[in-house]
Amino acid sequence: MGYNIELTIKVIKSEDAERIKGSVETLHAKCAYAKINLALAIVGRRRDGYHELQTVMQSIELHDVVKIERSGTALVCNCGGLSGSGNLAYQAAALFQKHLGVNDGVLIEITKQIPLQAGLGGGSSDAAAVLLLLNDIYQQPLTAEELAELAGLCGSDVGFCLTGGTMWATGRGEELEELPAAPQMDLVLVKPLGGIDTGEAYRRFDAQGQGRSISKQDWGRVLARGEIEEIAWLMSNDFEPVSLAMVPEISLIKEELLLAGCYGSLMSGSGSAVFGIAQDKEHATWIGQRLLRKGFGQVWNTSTYNA
Ligand code: C5P
Repeated sequence: MGYNIELTIKVIKSEDAERIKGSVETLHAKCAYAKINLALAIVGRRRDGYHELQTVMQSIELHDVVKIERSGTALVCNCGGLSGSGNLAYQAAALFQKHLGVNDGVLIEITKQIPLQAGLGGGSSDAAAVLLLLNDIYQQPLTAEELAELAGLCGSDVGFCLTGGTMWATGRGEELEELPAAPQMDLVLVKPLGGIDTGEAYRRFDAQGQGRSISKQDWGRVLARGEIEEIAWLMSNDFEPVSLAMVPEISLIKEELLLAGCYGSLMSGSGSAVFGIAQDKEHATWIGQRLLRKGFGQVWNTSTYNA
């Protein structure tokens, strides 16, 4: 994989150099990793309209690539059909500049691989990469705490994406505590055709769902032991019943993954993507091919990622 290592490129591929047209500005780039939730419990509703969560978040290898350079006079975000000021990455950059009291031209270019409306935190991860890259470009004016504060204003998952790894998250999802790193797990990731809007999933949960809590101690113990069967056994997601009702394909995918011999399978976040934990890389590849043959359109072989 071309961008396997997290990279901050100090210039330059030749086409980038061409585009910069002789400028001495520096191009910075970063992999923006997707996340899955190994467990997610909705434990209450808050006065601010958000929901109180307990969740185990895990970075995975699947990633977008975010490049930033100081260029032009305006803030520009190129991301195919997701270009412009509606992109969370643009909003993160605008917030960062406002916080710093600067108004420089910045060009953001995002190469997307992480699917949308999937519960994989793609938009959040791009936004976090933008915050980190801008902090590099401006030579670290913001502390880790200040970056986390800005991240929280961008979205509930953005703070996790600043560091990634294996984390226990509470509050809106922004209060983070490190857990023992999950063992390397080979994953099959499947995105149904239908996506799910997170806000809508929460609304439906309020109308029909019932949350239950999960235990940080249990997760800490099981992750420290690193037994994949135990991890799979402990996995749960309170969103599944509501999201299944919106996108019935989710249950079909879960069944397929289990039938194919995965240790476990679970929907990530509010969905609609589903992951299965395969026995090894070969097994994951075999399952991926089997699902493609069965007509599931969006299938990835990936793995957990702990830097
Ligand atoms: O924070 P973020 O923008 O990712 O959240 C999207 C929507 O999901 C929010 O507008 C809110 O309706 C809902 N949400 C929630 N409780 C959370 C996180 C998100 O109700 N903990």
